[in-house]
Amino acid sequence: MSETTFTPRVFSGIQPSGNLHLGNYLGALKRFVDWQAKDVETIYCMVDLHAITVWQDPVDLKKSTRELCAGFIAAGLDPEQSILINQSQVPEHAQLGWVFNCVARMGWMQRMTQFKDKAGKNAQNASLGLFGYPALMAADILVYHATHVPVGEDQKQHLELTRDIAAKFNHDYGVDFFPMTEPVIEGAATRVMSLRDGSKKMSKSDPSDASRINLTDDADAIAKKIRKAKTDPEALPSEEKGLEDRPEARNLVNIYAALNDQSVEQVLADVGGKQFSEFKPMLADLAVSKMAPISTEMARLMNEQDEIDRILTRGAERAREITAPILRKTYDIIGMVGPTTL
Ligand code: AMP
Ligand code: TRP
Repeated sequence: MSETTFTPRVFSGIQPSGNLHLGNYLGALKRFVDWQAKDVETIYCMVDLHAITVWQDPVDLKKSTRELCAGFIAAGLDPEQSILINQSQVPEHAQLGWVFNCVARMGWMQRMTQFKDKAGKNAQNASLGLFGYPALMAADILVYHATHVPVGEDQKQHLELTRDIAAKFNHDYGVDFFPMTEPVIEGAATRVMSLRDGSKKMSKSDPSDASRINLTDDADAIAKKIRKAKTDPEALPSEEKGLEDRPEARNLVNIYAALNDQSVEQVLADVGGKQFSEFKPMLADLAVSKMAPISTEMARLMNEQDEIDRILTRGAERAREITAPILRKTYDIIGMVGPTTL
């Protein structure tokens, strides 16, 4: 059991690999903004080192990193209040990542479903980085001694592994140094599904652009994608149990609830009995009112590249004030000789 009390600190990350979408917004970004409003330190990261675990075109990677930073700010993150960073600009992430490569076990990594999904049939041809991905993710979090990590449902297994790594390190070295981080998976849309197929997660890699609402979509594109979203012929139920076995209906109701900061029960109390012909325009209006201003602001910020780069440089400086001492102390615990003998 951990005896030390760690100061609450929030960390989360998103990969700059293009196509930021509504799932990222509702599962992650919107939650990041909620945490920023609380009286707690918040650090949000563009995880470019994670992105290159699969091939990234260098020109696209730069563009996607800046676009993601623009998305963070357009969604409501304030670079003065939150620390916004690009992972590769804070070298302690990769340095602690190496240490955790030596703590984590091959068997733990082999169980990771994201690796199995991303590596596909030809796992022998996957990069070593893709296999070790969760050890670097644990380092991202623990190099800040972060206590809370807001993410979508798909990251739950990685966060359990983060706790396993912290526990093994603490146990092996007989210390109480790394906290047991809490995953924060909450809200009505922790798993947003494809608009074309309610059994598939909304994903940046889906070949169908109609399957997702991109943060760069304008009002017309957003409304059109919602009008075309797959549904079933039944009217909406008045209670949540009526959504069982109706994945497309459930998804659209979840999206509505999350965008409007309501619970699914509250939404169904209002819209139960309505046909999709009536509900879809309501959802389209809501989505346009919440999402279109974000895409407009993102487009504006993308013209201010120097400003984005300055924000990331400043973010990295602030971040390193936290990460450098934690890495130094980690090295000392492990027995590495360094400039400041502790
Ligand atoms: P990624 O783009 O894979 O780096 O994901 C960034 C964040 O968005 C993570 O917290 C994910 O859990 C979250 N996320 C990605 N896809 C979805 C989705 N379809 N529904 C909810 N959250 C998602
Ligand atoms: N693995 C996360 C994803 O694919 C991204 C990520 C990397 C992350 N490091 C993190 C999320 C640390 C939370 C905390 O979505």
